[in-house]
Amino acid sequence: MGPLFFMNCLGAPAQLKLEFYKWYCDFPFPTTEWDHLYTIKDTIQTVAGSPLCHISRAIWEGVYIREQYDGVTYDSTRCSKLPRDCVKKTVELLNAAWTGTGFATTYVWAPDANYKKCFDCHTDLYAKKLPGGIHSGKFDCVGCHDMPGSHGRIKGPK
Ligand code: HEC
Ligand code: HEC
Repeated sequence: MGPLFFMNCLGAPAQLKLEFYKWYCDFPFPTTEWDHLYTIKDTIQTVAGSPLCHISRAIWEGVYIREQYDGVTYDSTRCSKLPRDCVKKTVELLNAAWTGTGFATTYVWAPDANYKKCFDCHTDLYAKKLPGGIHSGKFDCVGCHDMPGSHGRIKGPK
């Protein structure tokens, strides 16, 4: 939310915000770039596939506690390193937009292959104001929804 708020205040183009959003969802946080600032280095990295804190943190905890935690020294540095990664990316995107060297004019958001069908059909349903239409949300659907068996048959009042 921080970077998006910042981009809004500076009048950044909409594609820039979508590019940031997509980058965030797919990025293996945190980098080792800030390790010199912390006693704990090489924090285990995970990809959230989501912009939500709960999902991002819970996936990380799930890997960290099972695979790396020694039961003594808990690594609480992820939430300090991750915002630094985000700020750096935000500045890179803004610079690119303002110097006309990239992302901002060329970037087009698209759903990943694993939920493209869901997204395309459900946004189309919304455009036609049919049941199942979704107005907003660029999430990976399958993290939250199973596809129901009787799928796509419109039920309910005509
Ligand atoms: C972070 C979790 C999450 C993600 C990701 C997500 N949804 Fe949902 N969705 C929900 C919740 C919670 C509800 C409301 C409760 C319910 O109806 O199950 C909902 C409701 C819906 C509904 C209305 C259900 C009804 O009762 O008619 C549709 C359709 C839907 N989502 C489709 C999608 C599609 C398509 C995507 C991907 C582009 C998606 N959702 C991504 C959590 C999510
Ligand atoms: C070809 C079109 C189409 C595709 C592709 C599609 N859906 Fe749907 N979906 C529908 C329609 C139509 C409905 C509404 C049915 C109704 O309630 O009348 C629906 C309903 C839903 C609902 C709410 C109804 C329920 O029973 O829970 C969810 C959630 C959902 N879809 C998720 C998904 C996900 C996740 C995917 C991809 C894995 C997906 N859909 C792919 C057409 C589609």
